[in-house]
Amino acid sequence: MQKQYKSMRLLAMASLIFLGVSPSVASERYWKDGQQAYTQVCAYCHNIGVGPDSVKIKFPDDAVAFRTNNIIQVVRHGLNAMPAFRKTEIDDATLRDLAHGLATGKIK
Ligand code: HEC
Repeated sequence: MQKQYKSMRLLAMASLIFLGVSPSVASERYWKDGQQAYTQVCAYCHNIGVGPDSVKIKFPDDAVAFRTNNIIQVVRHGLNAMPAFRKTEIDDATLRDLAHGLATGKIK
């Protein structure tokens, strides 16, 4: 009886962790928008000439989706001297907004 109670408690704790923590980590937004994330995370290199200015090139409408995904890939995987950024640093929604903003020339 005692043993069964213990394992039920463990199960309850495990499901609390699963329900309470994992989904919020995956979907939580850490930034107000892409511009704020760019200013705080990317400008540090890209606005002072360490990272190339090419990130701010505005793409034609029919290439925006391609460029947006390209930027997301570079940010998630890194590129030579540029480090990768994890979802816990820039969440997916903010990164999409940031990459789309760069591709459309809206981020300063
Ligand atoms: C620690 C400095 C640093 C930070 C911070 C940084 N980058 Fe970079 N980034 C670089 C460097 C250096 C390169 C050039 C890498 C190469 O080509 O060897 C680069 C290249 C890139 C490229 C490829 C060039 C292009 O125009 O396609 C993209 C896209 C990019 N960075 C986006 C970002 C974004 C978005 C952020 C913020 C989330 C960011 N970077 C943060 C240093 C940085």
